[in-house]
Amino acid sequence: MRESWRIQCPADALWLGGCARRFAEEQGFPGEDPSRIGLAVSELVNNVLKYAGLGRLVLELDEAEPDLLVIVVEDEGAGIQDLPTALQDGVSEGRRVSGAAGQVAGRRGLGCGLGAVQRLMDGVEISNRPEGGVRIRATKRRVRGRWPGRSAQEG
Ligand SMILES: Nc1ncnc2c1ncn2[C@@H]1O[C@H](COP(=O)(O)OP(=O)(O)O)[C@@H](O)[C@H]1O
Ligand SMILES: [Mg+2]
Repeated sequence: MRESWRIQCPADALWLGGCARRFAEEQGFPGEDPSRIGLAVSELVNNVLKYAGLGRLVLELDEAEPDLLVIVVEDEGAGIQDLPTALQDGVSEGRRVSGAAGQVAGRRGLGCGLGAVQRLMDGVEISNRPEGGVRIRATKRRVRGRWPGRSAQEG
């Protein structure tokens, strides 16, 4: 099971986040996992749109390990030169974010996107592609039978 999309227009962050959530639901990911996966995709797609412009999203279940959902996001931007800094919460475009969000200039954000993706997913690998741009591979394991499901639990 594999689906892929181009990342190209401003609506794609929200739209592809919804596609990812549905994909995870259809593949039987339990509880809040589809929402977590959707949110992670939204953050990654948002970064592509802000910092790179164009890219591609692939969602698939690993062939060798069908319980592993894999997100791959690749773009055609300049890459991330200082990865440790980019991963820090509260640092956007290499600078610490201070003050109200409204005072943040230009394309800078809250600086928590990549950190959030790490917290939402089980594993995240970030690399600069030899041909330019960023490649991010994030994984989430499908755990079966851990929860009875919210609706059953909460009536
Ligand atoms: N696809 C990308 N291409 C180039 N730089 C990126 C990309 N994604 C993230 N970055 C860099 O990493 C930083 C941190 O990203 P993130 O944690 O999502 O915070 P924010 O987007 O709010 O700044 C960004 O400010 C940007 O400098
Ligand atoms: Mg971001």
